[in-house]
Amino acid sequence: MSTTNSPITRQSVIDQYLPKTVTPVADSMNEAVFAPSNIALCKYWGKRDAELNLPINSSLSISLAHLGTKTSISVAAGSNDEVWLNGQKLAADDKFARKVIAFIDLFRRGAEHRVKVETENNIPTAAGLASSASGFAALMKAVDQFYGLQLPLLQQSAFARMGSGSASRSLYEGFVEWQMGIREDGMDSIAAPLDCVWPELKVGLVKVSTGPKAVDSRSGMNRTVDTAHLYQSWPLQAAADLERLHNAIADKDFTLLGETAEQNALSMHATMIASWPPLLYWQPESVAAMQRIWQVREVGTELYFTMDAGPNLKLLFLADAEEQVRTFFPDLEVISPFA
Ligand code: DP6
Repeated sequence: MSTTNSPITRQSVIDQYLPKTVTPVADSMNEAVFAPSNIALCKYWGKRDAELNLPINSSLSISLAHLGTKTSISVAAGSNDEVWLNGQKLAADDKFARKVIAFIDLFRRGAEHRVKVETENNIPTAAGLASSASGFAALMKAVDQFYGLQLPLLQQSAFARMGSGSASRSLYEGFVEWQMGIREDGMDSIAAPLDCVWPELKVGLVKVSTGPKAVDSRSGMNRTVDTAHLYQSWPLQAAADLERLHNAIADKDFTLLGETAEQNALSMHATMIASWPPLLYWQPESVAAMQRIWQVREVGTELYFTMDAGPNLKLLFLADAEEQVRTFFPDLEVISPFA
């Protein structure tokens, strides 16, 4: 398998859904918008198209309530675009700033005005949670508001996906499924929320390392698709896991949910390890945490984990196990996705 670039560009897809010209709405109409971070229980791993971020498999996530990104866009006073991150103005050539402006350019229709983008993450950087998902979802919502586009959420999900795949899921609260879709222009590769509320479900953030990753998820997934033979089994695993997760959510079967999420994450990591050069995101402390989780399970507490392309773990447990879990992970930050 390999990741390809379709002849269809992001701009050509977006153009079909926008008016010929756009004008910023009055600043008074503009409020900061928020999008939650999310953690996948069935992971998005591998693209069939790199330009549009079209995935090889469907995925399912849970949004992290109040943890995420707040963004506002206004007309810049000066003659340059400005990007502010957590109260600090970024240099024009900063990598993050350039990505943000490139995304806005997709919607600007060549208009003359310059923008000031202010974005804040309240995701504890210590928890090592990706901010690109909530970042592009919040940016999409802010663009929609700034130009008064009033795009349906499903279209916003497809456009946020072009910024970062996992951002397609961060437009919503709760459980969210991102359907891989089959269309070449990707307009059926969109996320939508599942109709389920599970107040007892908790997510715990275990911090192992806060340093920058040597290989980001985007490069990591491309390397895996291009070099790991083991990757061929991934789409099958993901499809089976997705079905299991649907059943687990419908029946509120926590054992099935936890087992499926943990096996899915470890299967994804197996494909990474089988890449060349190998990708091992784990630190010794990550493995120690896994072993502790398995010990906790052995003594009868239902505790599971999932991990993204990094060394940190996210724990899954139910409210009545929280006290017990905290005795094993005293520094745990606990999130209630449905509170
Ligand atoms: C392991 O969404 O960051 O977290 O589309 O290239 O921006 P790009 O990748 P990104 O990848 C997330 C990968 C993951 C799994 C997941 O969130 O589903």
